[in-house]
Amino acid sequence: MTISAPLSPHTPAALYPAHLSVLQERAAEALRRGGFDHLVIPSGTLHYQAFDDRDYPYAVNPQFKAWLPLTQAPGSWLVITPGKRPALIFLQPHDYWHAVPAMPRDYWVEHFDITVIRTPEEAARLLPPVFRCAILGEPQSALGSYVPNNPEPVLQYLDYHRAFKTPYEVAMLRQASRIGVRAHRAAERAFRAGASEFGIHLAYCQAAGQDANDLPYGNIIALNEHAAVLHYTLRDRLPPKPLRSILIDAGASFGGYASDITRTYSAQEDDFAAMIRAVDAVQLRLCDQVRAGTDYRQIHLDAHLLLAGVLHESGLITVAPEEAVARGISSAFFPHGIGHGIGLQVHDVAGFAASDAGGTIAKPEGHPYLRLTRTLAPGMVVTIEPGIYFIDMLLDELQAKGLGDAVDWERVAAFKPYGGIRIEDDVVCTEDAPINLTREAFAEA
Ligand code: GLY
Ligand code: MN
Ligand code: MN
Repeated sequence: MTISAPLSPHTPAALYPAHLSVLQERAAEALRRGGFDHLVIPSGTLHYQAFDDRDYPYAVNPQFKAWLPLTQAPGSWLVITPGKRPALIFLQPHDYWHAVPAMPRDYWVEHFDITVIRTPEEAARLLPPVFRCAILGEPQSALGSYVPNNPEPVLQYLDYHRAFKTPYEVAMLRQASRIGVRAHRAAERAFRAGASEFGIHLAYCQAAGQDANDLPYGNIIALNEHAAVLHYTLRDRLPPKPLRSILIDAGASFGGYASDITRTYSAQEDDFAAMIRAVDAVQLRLCDQVRAGTDYRQIHLDAHLLLAGVLHESGLITVAPEEAVARGISSAFFPHGIGHGIGLQVHDVAGFAASDAGGTIAKPEGHPYLRLTRTLAPGMVVTIEPGIYFIDMLLDELQAKGLGDAVDWERVAAFKPYGGIRIEDDVVCTEDAPINLTREAFAEA
């Protein structure tokens, strides 16, 4: 053993054993509910393009990476049996065409019984009797009689509880936020230096040390009016003239966990910059509502009222904020949900789950795009991402509905060339005040 500094109690390595215990308890209960003895989880296999031998970027089964930060090991399997050490069947093929996954040496390895296999088929003889197995995966992962059966009671239980992050998971998410923030700062510098969307994307990837295959979702880098497209993922190779604004929604991955961060900047000190500051103030107020016992739907509804206030103060609407919300005018400017759970998946699972045994919590009427309706509890991690956009399609609809008199169209025309604003942070709900992972990382940087 080498002499090293004592393990900090806050590192993923130090927190992992307790995390694994929680997962084992959850797995035991999920199996009990489903009437199975073993949880069997394939890591997933490569997908190929139609009529071609080109594979799509490999995406690990989220149920697999929930157990260990291993995201590049297709053809491997996990076997979880209550009361036993978890088993990892690790595919390390004899292959000189492709890079073979290296034998893991991380902090988690000592907690698993690891068996190396050389062909995918070898896994079958190492798996427990199939009729006792809950097999969680996609159909393509089937291996002989080991066909994923994805039992509802098992999935419902695991997915519901995955909303409650362990301290290990919060540490992983914190690291994903730090990497994302480092890249956001590089992207802002590239924007201020006059780079194109493509150039800003490259600056982002360089600073993150991640490319399209690693990032948790495709970077949204929108200059000027492109920001009015909520998920704009084209990348112009030349910068627009004049360059007015940027909306950048981009995250980073760390050991299978995601960050999801949006910032908007104006190229100059102008009315748009002032509106960004106003949305930022609203966003901070909403982040402060990420507290145990709060119905997340209420944060969404409060966002409408606060953003309608910004619209009013900026001279975009002529009616009071309450009226703008009641008549659906705020929805034309803020047409998406206030956020979602985040973790192993950027849009985490079970956002509408009423319990760990099924049921759905409805979205508020008239708000079809909200992705999370649960009541917040310690350990939940959510995004808070209010926005104001100038979207022709929605503004046209507003007029068609006879609501055009509530809008100052000259003011809209003045803001339209900037596209829109979104500000998004990742926030941890605790017993006490929320922890804003994104702001924390910006403050640190
Ligand atoms: N990046 C997608 C989202 O914010 O939900
Ligand atoms: Mn988001
Ligand atoms: Mn986002």
